[in-house]
Amino acid sequence: MEKLVAPSMLSADFAKLSCDIEMVNKSKADWFHLDIMDGVFVPNISFGFPVVEHIKKEAKKPLDVHLMIVDPDRYIDRFKQAGADWLTVHYEACTHLHRTLSEIRNQGMKAGIALNPHTPVESLTDILEMADMVLIMSVNPGFGGQKFIANTYSKINRLRKMIESRGLATLIQVDGGVDTTNAAELYKAGVNVLVAGSSVFKSDNPLATIEALKNA
Ligand code: DX5
Ligand code: ZN
Repeated sequence: MEKLVAPSMLSADFAKLSCDIEMVNKSKADWFHLDIMDGVFVPNISFGFPVVEHIKKEAKKPLDVHLMIVDPDRYIDRFKQAGADWLTVHYEACTHLHRTLSEIRNQGMKAGIALNPHTPVESLTDILEMADMVLIMSVNPGFGGQKFIANTYSKINRLRKMIESRGLATLIQVDGGVDTTNAAELYKAGVNVLVAGSSVFKSDNPLATIEALKNA
């Protein structure tokens, strides 16, 4: 099974953003994970289009954009223009999720659905085929550096079974509190993509940490 690593740029040093982009380019990481927060869906505001466009200019790997915003339909074309390759919306933020995912795919991006810790994976029963990836939040979204919620393993196991029983190729991504101590167990539970913010950027050797996550 594919094992991918997507460093979350939320934990990068924004005064030296180009250096951190270059580090990810040189590393064994697969994607750039970009967290967009609106101060409404989550109690924090992160960054917007100018930063995404800057990262796109220098990134040599796909941009995986995680929208933590209400009514994301308003911005699908803007994120496409800014350079998103993957666009993930929250299940809890979409009234017409089928339409939203169709629109993301119509615009030529891969579509992801993110689930908050309290949202059961069984909510995806009638929409799973429309997603290229499911992002299981292992913390409450809004901030980096939080503690991993252990119930996430049960959600990953159940989702892996759903995906396999339908013969789908949907990727499972996990985001929040991921580090070198839980990476191997997460892959074993059925995760394809690890998102890691503080464990990468606050480590003494980010390149080595990314490699350790990749080979966990
Ligand atoms: C949290 C974001 C995460 C965050 C993860 O709302 O979605 O991508 O950057 O940070 P860590 O890895 O520090 O938990
Ligand atoms: Zn994220």
